[in-house]
Amino acid sequence: MQNLTQGGAVTDRLKRPLRDLRISVTDRCNFRCPYCMPAEIFGDHYQFLPKQQILSYEEIARLTHIIIRLGAVKLRLTGGEPLVRQDLDLLVRQLAQLDGAHDLAMTTNGVRLPGRAQPLKEAGLQRVTVSLDSLDNDVFRQMNGNRANVEDVMAGIDAAIQAGLTPIKLNTVVKRGVNDNTLVDLAKWAKDQGYILRFIEYMDVGNRNGWRMEHVVPAREIAAIIDKALPLEPLPRNYNSETALRFAYRDGGGEIGIIASVTMPFCGDCSRMRLSPDGHIYTCLFATQGTDLMTPLRAGASDEEIETIIRDTWLNRSDRYSEVRSSIKRPNEKIEMYYIGG
Ligand code: GTP
Ligand code: 5AD
Ligand code: SF4
Ligand code: SF4
Repeated sequence: MQNLTQGGAVTDRLKRPLRDLRISVTDRCNFRCPYCMPAEIFGDHYQFLPKQQILSYEEIARLTHIIIRLGAVKLRLTGGEPLVRQDLDLLVRQLAQLDGAHDLAMTTNGVRLPGRAQPLKEAGLQRVTVSLDSLDNDVFRQMNGNRANVEDVMAGIDAAIQAGLTPIKLNTVVKRGVNDNTLVDLAKWAKDQGYILRFIEYMDVGNRNGWRMEHVVPAREIAAIIDKALPLEPLPRNYNSETALRFAYRDGGGEIGIIASVTMPFCGDCSRMRLSPDGHIYTCLFATQGTDLMTPLRAGASDEEIETIIRDTWLNRSDRYSEVRSSIKRPNEKIEMYYIGG
């Protein structure tokens, strides 16, 4: 079989193996973060995907099984907000039973974790990454479109810890002039609690967040802000395709990460495939087109036939958007982050 290397993983045109699968289980969310789903666009009448166009849990598990055969070893549930989909533990149970993947995690805004964390853990979820953009409640509300308070997320984090969904990682999108003066407080708190905080450069995902370079606080500047208050030293990557630059606190009190996809892109090692709620696979967060698996799946295609479509898609992959962003004059319609997952 051509291009099957690195422990059986299919590799793309730039020799990058398929290693991670990010599964978006819904395009809906209970937040309206302006950098992802601005409330003025995603209002009461916004048409989300109709139910019949959304993959069932059985369909997701079947596709995941095939994608694991092609090399995926890390699975992550995303959305939208994955916990707005009912009975997510039923999907987790099916995914946890698949041989071959060694990591099963979820990215969530956290507010629905109380009451859900324990069943998810029992079903086989290993850990969660919770988004939290500030500890200042006014700033946080500005970052989430006035949908939740810091204490709601804290309750979710506590529930995750009690259930053993650890280590807890926190994701903080940094937007200049909005939450950049609250980063040190967040870092101090996360350090005390033993959580792995990762700051994310605000990205030009989708077409609707009004992104401008002036809104981005570069990783170098974020590192300097934190280092001044809490001295840092660089750490090596945990694995090749890791998104975050890692730093240890010099006092030995844990680590912090910065995801610098704008100023220091990491496309060279990108091994992530994304599955959308309506059964399309995407080979880049900034893709303009996906490959439809839903139609063949529902037309009765065999596993082998679907595997061929997925393999061909990855073999043809040459995406490296973040590395070439500045040379793209007028990007085509990109897919939206809320649809394809953070
Ligand atoms: P672990 O290391 O397994 O914990 O996962 P991770 O670093 O992939 O973490 P997570 O899934 O929380 O990703 C963090 C954030 O990085 C996402 O919310 C995105 O904002 C960004 N990100 C993840 N993958 C990509 C990618 O392929 N390209 C770009 N440009 N950004 C990404
Ligand atoms: N820039 C950077 N990260 C983003 N996310 C969503 N939109 C953006 C953006 N424009 C990420 C955040 C959030 C996750 C669900 O998606 O990390 O925590
Ligand atoms: Fe929802 Fe996450 Fe997007 Fe915020 S970033 S609107 S929590 S999917
Ligand atoms: Fe991967 Fe595309 Fe992100 Fe580059 S921009 S790291 S190719 S998802």
